[in-house]
Amino acid sequence: MNTACVILAAGLGKRMRSRLAKVLHPVLDRPMLLYPVELALAQRCKPVVVVAGHQEETVRQLLGGRFGAGVRVVRQWPPRGTGHALLMARPALPRRGRLLVLCGDVPLLTLAEVARLRRGARDAAVAFLTARLSDPSGYGRVVRDGRGEVLRIVEHADAGAAERRIDEINTGVYLFDLAFVHSAIGRLRAGNAQREFYLTDLVAEARKRGRAVAGVAVDDAEPVLGINTRQELARAEEVLSARLARTLSRRGVTVHAPSTTRLCAELRAGRDSEILPGCQFSGRVRLGRGCRIGPYAVLRDCAVGDGASIGPFCVLEDCLVGKDARVGPFSRLRPGAVLGPEVHVGNFVEVKKSRLGRGSKANHLTYLGDAVVGRGVNVGAGTITCNYDGKHKHPTVIEDGAFIGSDTQLVAPVRVGKNAVIGAGTTVTNDVPAEALAVSRVKQTHVPGYARRRRR
Ligand code: UD1
Ligand code: CA
Repeated sequence: MNTACVILAAGLGKRMRSRLAKVLHPVLDRPMLLYPVELALAQRCKPVVVVAGHQEETVRQLLGGRFGAGVRVVRQWPPRGTGHALLMARPALPRRGRLLVLCGDVPLLTLAEVARLRRGARDAAVAFLTARLSDPSGYGRVVRDGRGEVLRIVEHADAGAAERRIDEINTGVYLFDLAFVHSAIGRLRAGNAQREFYLTDLVAEARKRGRAVAGVAVDDAEPVLGINTRQELARAEEVLSARLARTLSRRGVTVHAPSTTRLCAELRAGRDSEILPGCQFSGRVRLGRGCRIGPYAVLRDCAVGDGASIGPFCVLEDCLVGKDARVGPFSRLRPGAVLGPEVHVGNFVEVKKSRLGRGSKANHLTYLGDAVVGRGVNVGAGTITCNYDGKHKHPTVIEDGAFIGSDTQLVAPVRVGKNAVIGAGTTVTNDVPAEALAVSRVKQTHVPGYARRRRR
């Protein structure tokens, strides 16, 4: 039987105390809403409909950019309750089949919980996941009769003292019979404490019609509970990062002290790679086999080849690191840095939009910007490509085998030919021919006895 999915995401999420809609807040660097949407797509739900309200345009752009026509967005404005949200989605839904309803704020939900709901639902008109909480306040409570059958869900705001003592809550994950939804949703009324249309009232409505209702309990509430506060968001990131660390470890990757590291969903790492404590990954990161990262390295959108090591306190963004390369400690690779195999980049070296060929080295205190460096080049300490004249950026080319002495300034545009040698302290303003030596220094002079005279 086909399952459609509606994801409720129109609310602002007041408890976040933010101008940004809750579902757009990043969780491990990705908007919270992407998690339930991807879960629905992984379940092959069709269609997947997101109900948006606050910052609807941003939600549309986010989902359109990622999934194109694969996810539909419908508008609910103003938000008048979860039942009203589903009503807005109704025209986009098929007449029959099943309907999975999720909230946009459940990044920890997995296929396992949805599978449990499906098993427990059988042919109920409404099935939903429940959890027992030591502090259930704020949530809708599950009211059961003496035989344990669900009668209704009562919202916290509408519950009496006895109902508030019920510790079984509605998690907000539902599986409906679509035909029932179509016939019953128009019946919802907003005669309650919050003047909202409650989706949860469909439970009592199903019972009234003699239809089966299933409250399916989960053992562990953590994955099913929505994020309401920034503290819960931070906790969710820890949980997700720990999950990713477990997945990596099953694939032969060690994440040392995983609670100190922030992994990202789009991190792939080959066998025998090690991630040392305190690292942070975001965007799309690819690590080859046998890589060593950290401690305390920050990587965003980059690829690191087999056997390469990124030492302590390196910051890498939008760059490629070749096989067996060595980076760090304290290196910064900025967008467009492309290091070939066996390249060494050391401490306090910044590389931007530059390529370094196989085996080239820049080990200390260097800036390489808009440069093309060949193979086997040695870049001495303190070398700087002067790539910016205040208006434009200019390229520097250093051909294979060149030796750049320490404290060299390469005033771009400029080219250093193959195997050329630049003497330490040189300011290179003209192209250097292959195999030549370039030096530009004031000749050293000595003033005999100067120091002794000064002391007197
Ligand atoms: C809802 C349930 C409650 C349950 C709780 C679990 C109802 C009436 N109550 O509570 O039983 O214990 O979830 O977290 O459904 N939304 C819209 N449009 C609206 C209102 C909400 O799209 O008009 C979305 C929100 O963006 C959010 C989700 O629905 O993603 C849940 O809304 P929220 O206000 O957080 O839940 P409650 O109403 O407090
Ligand atoms: Ca509410």
